[in-house]
Amino acid sequence: MNRTIILALAVAALTACGQGTTKSKMENQTMREIEPTEIRENAIGLFDQEWALVTAGVPGDVNTMTISWGSLGELWNRPVVTVYVSSSRYTHAFMEKNGHFTVVFFPPECRDALQYLGSHSGRDGDKIQASGLTLEWLESGLPSFAEADMVIEARKIYGAPFDESGFGDVPEQFYARGRMGVHSVYVGEIEHVWVRGRKGE
Ligand SMILES: Cc1cc2nc3c(=O)[nH]c(=O)nc-3n(C[C@H](O)[C@H](O)[C@H](O)COP(=O)(O)O)c2cc1C
Repeated sequence: MNRTIILALAVAALTACGQGTTKSKMENQTMREIEPTEIRENAIGLFDQEWALVTAGVPGDVNTMTISWGSLGELWNRPVVTVYVSSSRYTHAFMEKNGHFTVVFFPPECRDALQYLGSHSGRDGDKIQASGLTLEWLESGLPSFAEADMVIEARKIYGAPFDESGFGDVPEQFYARGRMGVHSVYVGEIEHVWVRGRKGE
């Protein structure tokens, strides 16, 4: 099967989020800015159950991937979002070379698109287009998606690989066979939070 056919099949399979009711519903609701302290969702549930996209880059040179490891909190007297990106991901290079990143959450209808973006690499082609999601650029110049229901804009204030000498027994299980590469920790100072739909109520 050639790449065009694969792309067409992927888009067709994922229209429930990208081109169906979710998108039109979301397009009718403008994003509302809230303070980081007004985020009502449970942070563990947001990452573990809903998943998110972490995205970094500029027009023409951007990549995104699905994450379920992440945290929201406070560090150095700033509101922060922290993500953990393996050195094996194509996104890792984008996190390294860009000073900002976004963490974007979606309604449940977009689950298939997130699964797709978490199981395909931007190294192999335009996976954003294939996912059916619509990349858009915020006023700040940062990347987001038209189907999102919560967008966090973050300025990278720390980025470094985990120091393996600090691992206890739990992380060792993840890195024992070395398949994933060690994750880098990226702490972003939250500069803006935008919500709509369920998360904006
Ligand atoms: C539900 C889910 C959660 C994931 N969470 C993470 C994560 O927190 N950190 C990470 O490095 N990879 C995570 N991944 C794997 C990446 O999303 C995946 O390897 C992706 O294809 C990388 O894309 P890239 O090569 O374009 O960067 C997750 C994948 C899925 C499906």
